[in-house]
Formats: sequence, structure tokens, C-alpha cells
Amino acid sequence: MDYQQVIEEVYEEVNALQLKGKVASYIPELSSVDPNQFGIAIVDLAGNVYGVGDYQKPFSIQSISKVFTLTMVFHKFKTKLWSRVNVEPSGNPFNSIAQLEYEKGIPRNPFINAGALVITDALTTKYAQPTTEILSFINELSGKTCVEINEVIKNSEMKHADRNTALAYFLKAYKNFDNDIAEVLDVYFAHCAMEMSCVDLARAFSFLANDGYSIFAQREIISESYARRINALMLTCGFYDESGEFAFRVGLPGKSGVGGGIAAVMPHKFSVAVWSPELNEKGNSVKAIKALELLTDKLSFSLF
Ligand code: DON
Repeated sequence: MDYQQVIEEVYEEVNALQLKGKVASYIPELSSVDPNQFGIAIVDLAGNVYGVGDYQKPFSIQSISKVFTLTMVFHKFKTKLWSRVNVEPSGNPFNSIAQLEYEKGIPRNPFINAGALVITDALTTKYAQPTTEILSFINELSGKTCVEINEVIKNSEMKHADRNTALAYFLKAYKNFDNDIAEVLDVYFAHCAMEMSCVDLARAFSFLANDGYSIFAQREIISESYARRINALMLTCGFYDESGEFAFRVGLPGKSGVGGGIAAVMPHKFSVAVWSPELNEKGNSVKAIKALELLTDKLSFSLF
């Protein structure tokens, strides 16, 4: 299969559709990005890179970082952590507060903001310098030093943090939050403000297409059974209240971010990252979803 030719076709066809969305503006600094950027990168399990468009340009990975933070605590799967966060699709927006009250402070899954805050809280308990640990973990997965924290975006989100702060206080009220709220939020905004290109993101996701073994880090990151479970969570929860639609249209485990990126994997074949900043009303990139839909259609395979 000539992945390069396929993604070039996908790129042309998506551009011709002139899809429109809205760049995220609730984090003001995110809206200063050029909305017309669009890139696709595939990395196969031999490490070959196929890329088109703006695939080498760093962008704000936002919630895609939650896959990495989850991976860092996944070995605690059989422990207390899994009584603190559930593994069910939420069917609600990523920053919903209502569900957290109905369900007594146990977030539906580790990818909605409340769940990701619990994971970041666990990392803050585990490490003296959690942000540095997250940064070096992602660099290791990519096989090179490529991750940078955009301090302007981080500060911009911190100044508009009312909802995430409310979620954290809510978790604390239900005794599902161990550390200082400001400290955990600082780590959370730092990992959301990390910047990577499509190609580096696809490299960093490669272990999830490869039963937990990273060819770039040259070690097993997590066991095969844990890699399968992270993929299951991405498939069922990776796109919040659009997860069913993404499984229906694309059929790959993936994770989106409000910076307009999506990273996904085709187990035993490749990892892929697509980026274009304009989002639909669910907070997922319109062009990236369309590109991945065309990709699995053209390849005639997905998980299904
Ligand atoms: O906490 C937030 O709202 C952002 N830092 C991340 C949200 C996000 O990327 C949701 N994904 N589509």
C-alpha cells in the first residue's frame, strides 16, 4: 500500500471540499493561529514517515496529551486509581460539570477534563517534577527532543480557567483529589500547552499501534494488554460526545484536541496524526475527521 499517494489524494480531496469550522477561542491565544493550516503524517511500524501539507509544523496538542498522561499511570490499572475514574463514554461535552455531580465525583473516563485532572493529580503525587516527567516521556516516545511548552498558550488558558478550576474543586469536595489545586492545574495546563508536529505525534503514538512497544524509545512502554485497553478507551471516549460518530465514520482509536489535532492508530499497521485548526461544535477538527474518514475508506480497512 502506497501510504504517501493515499494521503496526498486525501489532502487534495479534503481541501477541495472547503470545509469550515471555528478555531477554538475559549482559550484566547489559540484563536491567533492561521486557520488554513492542514497536515497529515503516517508512521508505519518500520518507522517510515509519509507526510503532506503542514505535517512538520508544531501545533498545540491540548487534549491529545491526555493519552500520554494516562499511559504514565496505566500500570496502576488494578489499583485504587481505577476506583477514582471510570471507563465509560460520557456522551457529554469534555468540560461538563453536571455529570460529575450526578456521579458523585467519579469522572466517566480519563479523557474528559474531570478525568484528566484526576490523572494529573495522580502524576503530581507520583513525581516531584510532573511536568518535566511528562515532557521527557513524550520526547522518549517520539525518539527525539521535539516537545515544547507554549507558555503564552498555557498562561492564556490559566487566565480563563474557571471551568477547570470548578471541576478540580468539585473533585476535591468528593475527596477525589489529593494535591493542591493550583499545583495540579499548572501541570494540566502545561501538558495541554505542549506543541508537537503531526510527524512527531504520529511517532509518539506508534507504540499503541505496536502492542505497547515503541520502536523509537526501543523498549516496551506498556504491556500488550494495556495497549489494547488504551486503544479501547480512545475508541469509546477519545472524541467525547462525538466518539460514536468518529467510530462510525473512521473506525480507528484516536484522540482529539481543541488545537485541531487528531492522533489515531491502526493496530499492527501505522499511527497517524492530522491537524487543521477549525473545529466543529463538539470541539473536534472538521478537516482532520474528514481526512481520516477518507483515509480508511481508501485503504478499505479500519478496526472493523
Ligand atoms: O482543558 C481544556 O479545556 C483544554 N486544555 C483541552 C480541551 C481539549 O482539547 C478538548 N478536546 N477536544
